[in-house]
Amino acid sequence: MIAPLPFPAAPEPTHGFPLRDGIVHGEEVPLPLIAREVGTPVFVYSASAMRQEARRLRSALASLADPLIAYAVKANPNAAVLATLAREGLGADVVSGGEYRRARAAGVPPEKIVFSGVGKTAAEMALALDGGLCQFNLESLAEAEMLSAVATALGRTAPVAFRVNPDVAAGSHAKISTGAAHNKFGIAISEASTACARVRELPGLRLCGFAVHIGSQLTSLAPLEEAFGKVGATIERLRREGHDICTADLGGGLGIRYDPAAPRPPTPEAYGALVARVTRGWDVRLIFEPGRLIVGEAGVLLTEVIRVKPGPRHPFVILDAAMNDLMRPSLYDAWHEIDAVQPKADRMIADVVGPVCETGDTFAVARPLERVAAGELMIIRTAGAYAASMGSTYNSRPLTPEVLVDGGNWAVIRPRQDIEALLRERVPAWL
Ligand code: LLP
Repeated sequence: MIAPLPFPAAPEPTHGFPLRDGIVHGEEVPLPLIAREVGTPVFVYSASAMRQEARRLRSALASLADPLIAYAVKANPNAAVLATLAREGLGADVVSGGEYRRARAAGVPPEKIVFSGVGKTAAEMALALDGGLCQFNLESLAEAEMLSAVATALGRTAPVAFRVNPDVAAGSHAKISTGAAHNKFGIAISEASTACARVRELPGLRLCGFAVHIGSQLTSLAPLEEAFGKVGATIERLRREGHDICTADLGGGLGIRYDPAAPRPPTPEAYGALVARVTRGWDVRLIFEPGRLIVGEAGVLLTEVIRVKPGPRHPFVILDAAMNDLMRPSLYDAWHEIDAVQPKADRMIADVVGPVCETGDTFAVARPLERVAAGELMIIRTAGAYAASMGSTYNSRPLTPEVLVDGGNWAVIRPRQDIEALLRERVPAWL
């Protein structure tokens, strides 16, 4: 028989958005205050929640020798988010010239920047070589050749790693799985020897090691273990072939919990223990590229109910947020928790939709919710990652503003896009 716990189980962490006096707050700031001052829809992020995740991952990796945690900027590239994480000592994983510039502007030191991506241009390579970086993660020999030419022309030496495609099934959504042989990413492990031998011949390149990233929102460690094992074997083989291997970038991908009723994804601690076990004896500096894990749960999309329209099966709760603000549900059928900001005991079942003219502009179907009416506020949770960063202006809706809360402080960290910016198009005189 299991002995009863001496104390009630610890409450679930609220990730920065606690319910206080019947009102959801962003840390200490009531969300209705932000809605009133900034308007809706608006993203609200908790700085403390981000710091907490960054520290948790760092301590989960504490047994490793000097790991580099390079936050994947694509998850949420806002300057204030990057500055928060840079102050926590995180580096940056960037995939474009724009992300490189954002990371530098936010104070990320160049030696903590990893440049990933399958289609880097010569201009992006030159930008990063000029400003400095930890390493380029290359995804083809053709890319190595281009980088060699760019580096030579600039009189620089580019530190490079090859991203290998380990051909493992990540078990995530097909659109965000990246480690299968038929995916566009990386070089086949069988090509690693040829690729590294070629790097030795190419001027302007210095081989550092290997990188791997098999996908995002991973809910099992098994595919990661398989992929890391293949990287370890590659390091051993390439060392035998005389290459000096000093870094291994294990990518990002650890999943977070979107649906509180779903099984918990592996914890950072379990991930850290796996990494420590699998990489024992590798004798390299390990690099990590977490995105979603750091910021995903630290954000909500605050939105107002425009109206509730009766439907044949359930009422439609029509929000002022739409698929252009948060496209994950329409793109990946992703599940996001949706709550009233001032919840009542009364409940309803509804389809939660946005105002965009597509049936895909649906956040939830047949979802049990707190009962809401027109004019009330709701939050779509777990909107700190791949939400604002994937926003668009579809239906001529301006980009959504972003607010950062830190304790009792809050500030607009991106204003609502001015509609004038969308109207700045030209009709040619010859038309
Ligand atoms: N490193 C590389 C090379 C990546 O491609 C990615 C994500 C990451 C790191 C960070 O992965 P994370 O730790 O965040 O899982 N828009 C999709 C996710 C796309 C992820 C793309 N690459 C979504 O909303 O689920």
